[in-house]
Amino acid sequence: MEFKNLLLEVSEGIALLTINRPDKLNALNNETMEELRQAFEHLRENDEAKVVILTGAGEKAFVAGADISEIRELDEATGKEFSLRGHKILTLIETFEKPVIAAVNGFALGGGCELAMACHIRLASENAKLGQPEVKLGIIPGYGGTVRLPRLVGKGKALQMTLTGLPISAKDAKCAGLVEEVYPPEELLPKAREMAKAIIANGPYAVKTVIRAVNEGLEMDLEQAKENEATLFAKTCATYDMKEGTSAFLEKRTPSFKGE
Ligand code: COA
Repeated sequence: MEFKNLLLEVSEGIALLTINRPDKLNALNNETMEELRQAFEHLRENDEAKVVILTGAGEKAFVAGADISEIRELDEATGKEFSLRGHKILTLIETFEKPVIAAVNGFALGGGCELAMACHIRLASENAKLGQPEVKLGIIPGYGGTVRLPRLVGKGKALQMTLTGLPISAKDAKCAGLVEEVYPPEELLPKAREMAKAIIANGPYAVKTVIRAVNEGLEMDLEQAKENEATLFAKTCATYDMKEGTSAFLEKRTPSFKGE
């Protein structure tokens, strides 16, 4: 599939999706957001793609935010539409049945940090800087920064980041739980691919069910979440993959999963 602002290549089960506006530090203009929606809808139906790695073109930025030239034109009505459309696209990513790994290769600011937070796993390069600088522009985060950030790093750290607008280093982001791992820049994509391959080796039905259980569980109280997990666990017990995975372990061989 061809895009103006994205690059997409699928090989060995891994879809590498690159936001490609390096001269604007991969800022998310409306066109790019629409292409992201199309790309994920395409990848949902693409059986070759088992895991998605999302990154930014160039050495400087993952995504330096929503496009400020477009934000400047918003009013109250179009601002609401802008935010709701962004939520829809990021929720598509958050609830995507195939794992999405953000390879944060530089600035992840504003919408860029929010986009990374919608992904299932965040890996960062040592030079990455993550932040929610919207208050510096007189606005608040509109793609989930006030919603996902406190859930990932806790209320105090989230308020520190969103009130000061100051970015944090990759190392501090790891300490805060905002990114899972930090690598030298040249190792970021190889490590992301290695992680993708480790996931691809697992039972596909179980993998998508983990994403569902975690997403749904976070929206429930503890008792409901445990009940929901039991229901989803039971579904995995009824799969071919469960029989194959457990038999392969006991027979000391590599499992051959079917995703059903
Ligand atoms: N929206 C639109 N354009 C952006 C952008 C954004 N969020 N972030 C960067 N750009 C553009 C710059 O305007 C510049 O374009 P130009 O070359 O046509 O002038 C280009 O990308 C390079 O950015 P520049 O600011 O020159 O790079 P830098 O290395 O000096 O600074 C940043 C890097 C990330 C610190 C700086 O670009 C920045 O603060 N960006 C905005 C971050 C932000 O507020 N994001 C939240 C938006 S809601």
